[in-house]
Amino acid sequence: MIRRLLCLAVVAWASAEKSCYWNALCPYPMYSTITPYDTIRGDIRDYPDPEGCQAISMWSLHRHGNRNPTSRVTTDIKAVAGLKDVIIQSFARGRSRMCSQDIEELKKWKWNETLEESQAFLTGTGYEELYDIGKRLREKYRELLRGSVDKYYFRSTNEQRTVASGMAFVHGLAEGTDLNLTVDGPWERDDVIRPYENCDKYQVEVKGGQKLVEELDAYFRTDEFQMVKNNVQERLGIETQLSPEDIYSLYEICRFYRSWTPTKQSPWCSVFSDQDLVVLEYRDDVRHYYRNGYGSWVNVNLGGPVLKDLYENFEAAVNGSGRNVVSYFTHDTMLEMTFCALGLFKDDAPIRGIERNPDRLWKTSFISSFSVNLIAVLNSCHESGSQTYRVQFFINERETELCPTTGCTWRQFQDNFHKFTTTNLDFCSMDNSVVSGPETNSATRAKLVTICLMAMEILFYLLK
Ligand SMILES: *[C@@H]1O[C@H](CO)[C@@H](O)[C@H](O)[C@H]1NC(C)=O
Ligand SMILES: *[C@@H]1O[C@H](CO)[C@@H](O)[C@H](O)[C@H]1NC(C)=O
Ligand SMILES: *[C@@H]1O[C@H](CO)[C@@H](O)[C@H](O)[C@H]1NC(C)=O
Repeated sequence: MIRRLLCLAVVAWASAEKSCYWNALCPYPMYSTITPYDTIRGDIRDYPDPEGCQAISMWSLHRHGNRNPTSRVTTDIKAVAGLKDVIIQSFARGRSRMCSQDIEELKKWKWNETLEESQAFLTGTGYEELYDIGKRLREKYRELLRGSVDKYYFRSTNEQRTVASGMAFVHGLAEGTDLNLTVDGPWERDDVIRPYENCDKYQVEVKGGQKLVEELDAYFRTDEFQMVKNNVQERLGIETQLSPEDIYSLYEICRFYRSWTPTKQSPWCSVFSDQDLVVLEYRDDVRHYYRNGYGSWVNVNLGGPVLKDLYENFEAAVNGSGRNVVSYFTHDTMLEMTFCALGLFKDDAPIRGIERNPDRLWKTSFISSFSVNLIAVLNSCHESGSQTYRVQFFINERETELCPTTGCTWRQFQDNFHKFTTTNLDFCSMDNSVVSGPETNSATRAKLVTICLMAMEILFYLLK
């Protein structure tokens, strides 16, 4: 808080000068889904156990740590990096409004081969993020680390970045103990921690749906985004006309190169002002809202199975046959769906591409930074002479609105979570012969239209 106030004061004082990136004291640190975990996390060690309580079981869900860009993004940013020389030349000709030192940093900048060699892989930073979470949990919950290996269960999805994240977490959690813990999986198909992968309704209507495309188009057409585009064009003073895609690729190269530490600088970020970054941050919020969030009820339902798993683990612990620690390593998609099933980060009005509410709750910088996590702790307590249970929740090692820091009672937990035990994935089926109504009819029609269009395209292609 103090640091934030200080920042505001400095911004006010410095605003009379030309603003440079290299010596900015408080550059905007939020980069949506590419935000480093340390930028937004709390620290679980700073939350005392509820009075008279001791943890008996912990359940957690994690997004993988810092990773390299995916192949599509790698291609895009390598292409836009080709502007480096043009930007430097424009400065030399006096057409640019960049600062000398920012240009000097850009001159020094080199393409990092690792990005192409291990696309979408967990980075060393990502390993450290998960290792550190495991380590902090070990320091906080020593009592949970006394048990036989069958009291622990870990699983990751079928990707290098999540498998490596699981290993990093377990490394930090068990280091210095006698426990030899292993991570299960990955499973070819995992309907608990990646249920959307095999959910036809999700793949066709949500991920491949029109709504997502329309909202993103609307975002790129806003005055606000157009202003960012013009600002960058003017600041660089280059002849090449930048497209909206170029602007976004510049944002990608800026945010990936700085993501390896919370305070690292990427000279590519100097093409943007802080206000530009605030506008660019919103694009992922829109995308994820429709792709994984409240933008579709399908997303909300897909968060059910993993919460059923949580409920059953804690119920088994209360019954005396539970595990000490259960943790899963998955993706931002899963974390967002889970938060939605829990009703968290829900704004009164829907998130729209056309308008950015600066005070929105749905901010991917917090909801889906690297290593984002949900941690639930079951405590056994002595309260007024009897034995009771209390459940605490943490998101990114901070308290949440789900339960007070002193925990929910077992009864309150049951009231809110028992509903997930009846969850199933029947809604994923696109087989419309089972149910029919006005909606399914129109869905069928849409599907037929798609098939016809595809057939026509194939015909057209063959005739050519
Ligand atoms: C290259 O990228 C990796 C992440 O893949 C990063 O850890 C490393 O520090 C980068 N190298 C340089 C010289 O910046
Ligand atoms: C830990 O367990 C794994 C598999 O159960 C085994 O392969 C490995 O040798 C064990 N390591 C140690 C240090 O005991
Ligand atoms: C826990 O015990 C209750 C009551 O005996 C039972 O209904 C429930 O199925 C048990 N749950 C688990 C996960 O063992």
